[in-house]
Amino acid sequence: MEQTRRTLLLGALATTACLGCSTEARAGEDAPGSDERPQKGDALVFSEGDQEGKPVTLADLPAGGPPVHAWPKDPKTSVVRSGSRLNEIVLIRLDPAELDDKTRERAVDGILAYSAICSHAGCPVTAWVKSDVGDKEVFKCMCHNSEYDPRAGAQVVFGPAPRRLAALPLALADGSLSVAGNFIGKVGGAQPG
Ligand code: FES
Repeated sequence: MEQTRRTLLLGALATTACLGCSTEARAGEDAPGSDERPQKGDALVFSEGDQEGKPVTLADLPAGGPPVHAWPKDPKTSVVRSGSRLNEIVLIRLDPAELDDKTRERAVDGILAYSAICSHAGCPVTAWVKSDVGDKEVFKCMCHNSEYDPRAGAQVVFGPAPRRLAALPLALADGSLSVAGNFIGKVGGAQPG
């Protein structure tokens, strides 16, 4: 009996936890400010791929996607805020006509920023794929298939995620994107990851 309960518990943990995602700090990234949440005025740099560390420009964000994953970067100290995985964001540019009213108000040139961390168990939201429940592309977390619609404030449209992704206000000046304020909504997974 006890063994069965333990097996069930371990099984539940395996399906809900984001294995490998549990540590907030990334090794070796302990520069002062690197784990502070995005701040107003921060620049945005690629967090992955060939251009990792380079500024994200408007040309990197074609309308309709794909999205770009980014870190905030303090423009004064040049510290990239990659010391906490909760600081990673996903940028997407969409046709403003596709956005709901509230989301359109926050968009700059159709560009939106959301936390890249799934609200279910905290995995990174990595995919931009056609939704299981509609014909539009959505953000998808491949851990347990939660889907978020960036046109509607990243509300959950499929899967076990309990709430939308946090949104990050943006500003656009002289062709450069920057952070315009704090995250709106809670960042991170609801379940221990
Ligand atoms: S962590 Fe479970 S769906 Fe994202």
